[in-house]
Amino acid sequence: MSRRFEELDWQPSPIGEISLRRRFDPAVKVDVYEIKLDDEFLMSSLFTVAEIELARLGLAALTGADREPLDVVVGGLGLGYTAQAVLDDPRVGSLIVVDKLGAVIGWHRRGLLPFARLLTEDPRCRLVEGDFFALAGSDEPGFDPDRPGRRFDAVLLDIDHSPSQVLHPSHAAFYRSAGLRQLTGQLRPGGVFALWSNDPPDDAVLATLDEVFATARAHVVTFANPIQGRQSANTVYVATTT
Ligand SMILES: C[S@@+](CC[C@H](N)C(=O)[O-])C[C@H]1O[C@@H](n2cnc3c(N)ncnc32)[C@H](O)[C@@H]1O
Repeated sequence: MSRRFEELDWQPSPIGEISLRRRFDPAVKVDVYEIKLDDEFLMSSLFTVAEIELARLGLAALTGADREPLDVVVGGLGLGYTAQAVLDDPRVGSLIVVDKLGAVIGWHRRGLLPFARLLTEDPRCRLVEGDFFALAGSDEPGFDPDRPGRRFDAVLLDIDHSPSQVLHPSHAAFYRSAGLRQLTGQLRPGGVFALWSNDPPDDAVLATLDEVFATARAHVVTFANPIQGRQSANTVYVATTT
Protein backbone atom coordinates (compact mmCIF):
# COMPACT_ATOMS: atom_id res chain seq x y z
CA MET A 1 0.00 0.00 0.00
CA SER A 2 1.40 3.39 -0.98
CA ARG A 3 1.17 6.26 1.51
CA ARG A 4 2.03 8.87 -1.07
CA PHE A 5 0.27 10.53 -3.94
CA GLU A 6 1.42 9.17 -7.28
CA GLU A 7 0.52 10.25 -10.81
CA LEU A 8 0.59 6.94 -12.68
CA ASP A 9 0.08 8.46 -16.14
CA TRP A 10 -0.73 11.74 -17.80
CA GLN A 11 -1.50 12.30 -21.48
CA PRO A 12 -2.91 15.05 -23.67
CA SER A 13 -6.15 14.04 -25.42
CA PRO A 14 -8.63 15.64 -27.84
CA ILE A 15 -10.90 16.53 -24.89
CA GLY A 16 -8.25 17.70 -22.40
CA GLU A 17 -5.42 16.40 -20.25
CA ILE A 18 -6.30 12.97 -18.91
CA SER A 19 -4.50 11.63 -15.85
CA LEU A 20 -4.55 8.60 -13.58
CA ARG A 21 -3.54 9.07 -9.94
CA ARG A 22 -3.22 6.81 -6.96
CA ARG A 23 -3.29 8.25 -3.45
CA PHE A 24 -3.63 6.88 0.03
CA ASP A 25 -6.86 8.20 1.56
CA PRO A 26 -6.49 8.63 5.32
CA ALA A 27 -10.29 8.74 5.87
CA VAL A 28 -10.84 5.20 4.57
CA LYS A 29 -7.24 3.97 4.82
CA VAL A 30 -7.05 2.54 1.30
CA ASP A 31 -5.30 3.38 -1.94
CA VAL A 32 -7.74 5.33 -4.12
CA TYR A 33 -7.46 5.45 -7.91
CA GLU A 34 -8.77 8.57 -9.65
CA ILE A 35 -9.16 9.71 -13.25
CA LYS A 36 -9.04 13.45 -13.92
CA LEU A 37 -9.80 15.32 -17.14
CA ASP A 38 -8.00 18.64 -16.77
CA ASP A 39 -9.13 19.70 -13.27
CA GLU A 40 -12.40 17.72 -13.31
CA PHE A 41 -12.75 14.37 -11.53
CA LEU A 42 -14.13 11.77 -13.97
CA MET A 43 -14.04 8.68 -11.78
CA SER A 44 -12.83 7.52 -8.36
CA SER A 45 -12.47 4.01 -6.98
CA LEU A 46 -14.06 5.37 -3.77
CA PHE A 47 -17.44 5.82 -5.45
CA THR A 48 -18.45 2.80 -7.51
CA VAL A 49 -21.89 1.77 -6.25
CA ALA A 50 -23.94 3.57 -8.90
CA GLU A 51 -21.51 2.63 -11.70
CA ILE A 52 -22.04 -1.03 -10.75
CA GLU A 53 -25.81 -0.48 -10.41
CA LEU A 54 -25.83 0.91 -13.96
CA ALA A 55 -24.91 -2.59 -15.15
CA ARG A 56 -27.09 -4.43 -12.65
CA LEU A 57 -30.27 -2.39 -13.24
CA GLY A 58 -29.77 -2.26 -17.00
CA LEU A 59 -29.28 -6.02 -17.34
CA ALA A 60 -32.09 -6.80 -14.87
CA ALA A 61 -34.51 -5.22 -17.37
CA LEU A 62 -33.64 -7.97 -19.88
CA THR A 63 -35.78 -10.98 -19.20
CA GLY A 64 -36.36 -14.26 -21.02
CA ALA A 65 -33.88 -17.09 -21.45
CA ASP A 66 -34.47 -16.98 -25.22
CA ARG A 67 -32.41 -13.74 -25.35
CA GLU A 68 -29.27 -15.37 -24.02
CA PRO A 69 -26.34 -15.08 -24.46
CA LEU A 70 -26.64 -11.30 -24.11
CA ASP A 71 -24.63 -8.90 -26.27
CA VAL A 72 -23.83 -5.70 -24.39
CA VAL A 73 -22.14 -2.34 -25.09
CA VAL A 74 -20.73 -0.08 -22.37
CA GLY A 75 -19.98 3.55 -23.26
CA GLY A 76 -17.09 4.86 -21.12
CA LEU A 77 -14.43 2.50 -19.73
CA GLY A 78 -13.03 4.67 -16.91
CA LEU A 79 -11.80 2.44 -14.07
CA GLY A 80 -13.85 -0.44 -15.46
CA TYR A 81 -16.40 -0.98 -12.67
CA THR A 82 -19.48 -0.91 -14.93
CA ALA A 83 -17.82 -3.23 -17.45
CA GLN A 84 -16.74 -5.69 -14.75
CA ALA A 85 -20.26 -5.75 -13.32
CA VAL A 86 -21.57 -6.64 -16.81
CA LEU A 87 -19.14 -9.56 -17.00
CA ASP A 88 -20.25 -10.71 -13.54
CA ASP A 89 -23.65 -11.53 -15.11
CA PRO A 90 -23.35 -15.12 -16.40
CA ARG A 91 -25.99 -14.41 -19.07
CA VAL A 92 -23.57 -12.09 -20.89
CA GLY A 93 -21.96 -13.63 -23.97
CA SER A 94 -20.13 -10.58 -25.31
CA LEU A 95 -19.21 -7.09 -24.18
CA ILE A 96 -17.84 -4.20 -26.21
CA VAL A 97 -16.53 -1.29 -24.14
CA VAL A 98 -16.13 1.90 -26.16
CA ASP A 99 -13.80 4.63 -24.92
CA LYS A 100 -12.65 7.63 -26.87
CA LEU A 101 -9.30 7.82 -25.13
CA GLY A 102 -6.58 5.37 -26.09
CA ALA A 103 -4.80 6.39 -22.88
CA VAL A 104 -7.60 4.97 -20.70
CA ILE A 105 -7.69 1.70 -22.65
CA GLY A 106 -3.87 1.58 -22.37
CA TRP A 107 -4.03 1.82 -18.55
CA HIS A 108 -6.11 -1.35 -18.51
CA ARG A 109 -3.94 -3.19 -21.03
CA ARG A 110 -0.74 -2.20 -19.21
CA GLY A 111 -2.13 -3.50 -15.89
CA LEU A 112 -2.00 -0.08 -14.16
CA LEU A 113 -5.39 -0.89 -12.60
CA PRO A 114 -4.76 -4.18 -10.79
CA PHE A 115 -8.39 -4.53 -9.61
CA ALA A 116 -9.60 -4.35 -13.24
CA ARG A 117 -7.39 -7.12 -14.65
CA LEU A 118 -10.36 -9.43 -15.29
CA LEU A 119 -11.56 -7.11 -18.06
CA THR A 120 -8.57 -7.66 -20.31
CA GLU A 121 -8.41 -11.37 -19.49
CA ASP A 122 -12.08 -12.19 -20.14
CA PRO A 123 -12.50 -13.52 -23.71
CA ARG A 124 -16.06 -12.10 -23.81
CA CYS A 125 -14.76 -8.53 -23.50
CA ARG A 126 -13.35 -6.23 -26.17
CA LEU A 127 -12.07 -2.69 -25.56
CA VAL A 128 -12.73 -0.48 -28.60
CA GLU A 129 -11.20 2.96 -29.05
CA GLY A 130 -13.83 5.27 -30.53
CA ASP A 131 -16.28 8.10 -29.96
CA PHE A 132 -19.39 6.50 -28.45
CA PHE A 133 -21.64 9.30 -29.71
CA ALA A 134 -20.38 9.07 -33.29
CA LEU A 135 -20.81 5.27 -33.27
CA ALA A 136 -24.27 5.52 -31.67
CA GLY A 137 -25.42 7.78 -34.47
CA SER A 138 -24.47 5.46 -37.32
CA ASP A 139 -25.88 1.95 -37.90
CA GLU A 140 -22.86 1.15 -40.02
CA PRO A 141 -20.32 0.46 -38.75
CA GLY A 142 -22.01 0.85 -35.33
CA PHE A 143 -20.30 -0.30 -32.14
CA ASP A 144 -18.66 -3.48 -33.46
CA PRO A 145 -15.86 -2.61 -35.91
CA ASP A 146 -15.80 -6.23 -37.15
CA ARG A 147 -19.56 -6.64 -37.69
CA PRO A 148 -21.14 -3.54 -39.23
CA GLY A 149 -24.84 -3.26 -38.45
CA ARG A 150 -24.66 -5.62 -35.46
CA ARG A 151 -27.52 -5.20 -32.92
CA PHE A 152 -27.24 -5.43 -29.11
CA ASP A 153 -29.40 -6.38 -26.14
CA ALA A 154 -28.21 -3.51 -23.95
CA VAL A 155 -26.27 -0.26 -24.24
CA LEU A 156 -25.11 1.13 -20.87
CA LEU A 157 -23.74 4.67 -20.83
CA ASP A 158 -21.53 6.48 -18.31
CA ILE A 159 -19.52 9.19 -20.03
CA ASP A 160 -20.92 12.62 -19.14
CA HIS A 161 -21.68 13.99 -15.67
CA SER A 162 -25.33 14.16 -16.78
CA PRO A 163 -27.29 14.86 -20.00
CA SER A 164 -27.13 18.57 -19.18
CA GLN A 165 -23.50 18.57 -17.98
CA VAL A 166 -21.57 17.05 -20.84
CA LEU A 167 -17.80 16.64 -21.15
CA HIS A 168 -17.81 18.04 -24.69
CA PRO A 169 -20.44 20.08 -26.55
CA SER A 170 -20.56 17.43 -29.31
CA HIS A 171 -22.15 14.97 -26.84
CA ALA A 172 -25.27 17.07 -26.17
CA ALA A 173 -27.22 16.11 -29.32
CA PHE A 174 -27.22 12.43 -28.35
CA TYR A 175 -29.47 13.09 -25.34
CA ARG A 176 -32.19 14.73 -27.44
CA SER A 177 -34.92 12.57 -28.96
CA ALA A 178 -33.35 12.42 -32.45
CA GLY A 179 -30.04 11.20 -30.98
CA LEU A 180 -31.66 8.58 -28.78
CA ARG A 181 -33.85 7.43 -31.66
CA GLN A 182 -30.71 6.70 -33.70
CA LEU A 183 -29.40 4.58 -30.84
CA THR A 184 -32.55 2.45 -30.80
CA GLY A 185 -31.59 1.32 -34.31
CA GLN A 186 -28.68 -0.54 -32.72
CA LEU A 187 -30.82 -2.34 -30.14
CA ARG A 188 -32.62 -5.63 -30.67
CA PRO A 189 -36.38 -5.73 -30.03
CA GLY A 190 -36.87 -5.56 -26.27
CA GLY A 191 -33.38 -4.06 -25.89
CA VAL A 192 -32.35 -1.78 -23.03
CA PHE A 193 -30.65 1.60 -22.81
CA ALA A 194 -29.40 2.58 -19.35
CA LEU A 195 -27.74 5.85 -18.39
CA TRP A 196 -25.76 6.99 -15.32
CA SER A 197 -26.18 10.58 -14.12
CA ASN A 198 -24.65 12.58 -11.32
CA ASP A 199 -27.83 14.71 -11.08
CA PRO A 200 -31.11 13.85 -9.31
CA PRO A 201 -33.87 12.40 -11.54
CA ASP A 202 -34.72 14.99 -14.16
CA ASP A 203 -38.27 15.19 -15.54
CA ALA A 204 -36.98 16.56 -18.85
CA VAL A 205 -34.64 13.57 -19.32
CA LEU A 206 -37.46 11.14 -18.47
CA ALA A 207 -39.81 12.91 -20.87
CA THR A 208 -37.28 12.58 -23.70
CA LEU A 209 -36.71 8.90 -22.91
CA ASP A 210 -40.50 8.38 -22.79
CA GLU A 211 -40.81 9.94 -26.25
CA VAL A 212 -38.35 7.48 -27.77
CA PHE A 213 -38.66 4.29 -25.71
CA ALA A 214 -41.64 2.13 -24.69
CA THR A 215 -40.75 2.37 -20.98
CA ALA A 216 -38.47 4.65 -18.99
CA ARG A 217 -37.69 4.81 -15.28
CA ALA A 218 -35.28 6.69 -13.03
CA HIS A 219 -33.66 4.82 -10.12
CA VAL A 220 -32.01 6.78 -7.31
CA VAL A 221 -28.90 4.95 -6.08
CA THR A 222 -27.59 6.03 -2.67
CA PHE A 223 -24.19 5.23 -1.23
CA ALA A 224 -21.94 6.22 1.68
CA ASN A 225 -19.66 9.17 1.03
CA PRO A 226 -16.78 8.75 3.49
CA ILE A 227 -15.14 12.03 2.42
CA GLN A 228 -18.20 14.11 3.28
CA GLY A 229 -19.41 11.81 6.07
CA ARG A 230 -22.91 11.52 4.63
CA GLN A 231 -24.96 9.67 2.00
CA SER A 232 -24.66 10.71 -1.66
CA ALA A 233 -26.88 9.74 -4.58
CA ASN A 234 -26.66 9.24 -8.34
CA THR A 235 -29.40 8.42 -10.84
CA VAL A 236 -29.62 5.45 -13.19
CA TYR A 237 -32.19 5.74 -15.99
CA VAL A 238 -33.38 2.50 -17.57
CA ALA A 239 -35.37 2.54 -20.82
CA THR A 240 -36.65 -0.39 -22.90
CA THR A 241 -37.70 -0.56 -26.53
CA THR A 242 -40.78 -2.75 -25.89
C1 LIG B 1 -16.90 8.53 -15.79
S1 LIG B 1 -15.80 7.58 -16.75
C2 LIG B 1 -16.61 6.02 -16.80
C3 LIG B 1 -16.59 5.31 -15.49
C4 LIG B 1 -16.98 3.85 -15.57
N1 LIG B 1 -18.43 3.69 -15.55
C5 LIG B 1 -16.36 3.02 -14.46
O1 LIG B 1 -17.06 2.13 -13.95
O2 LIG B 1 -15.21 3.26 -14.08
C6 LIG B 1 -16.07 8.25 -18.35
C7 LIG B 1 -15.23 7.63 -19.46
O3 LIG B 1 -15.75 8.11 -20.71
C8 LIG B 1 -14.68 8.28 -21.62
N2 LIG B 1 -15.12 9.17 -22.70
C9 LIG B 1 -15.17 10.52 -22.74
N3 LIG B 1 -15.70 10.95 -23.89
C10 LIG B 1 -16.02 9.85 -24.62
C11 LIG B 1 -16.62 9.62 -25.88
N4 LIG B 1 -17.02 10.64 -26.66
N5 LIG B 1 -16.80 8.34 -26.32
C12 LIG B 1 -16.39 7.29 -25.55
N6 LIG B 1 -15.82 7.45 -24.32
C13 LIG B 1 -15.65 8.69 -23.86
C14 LIG B 1 -13.54 8.80 -20.75
O4 LIG B 1 -12.27 8.56 -21.36
C15 LIG B 1 -13.75 7.98 -19.45
O5 LIG B 1 -12.99 6.79 -19.50
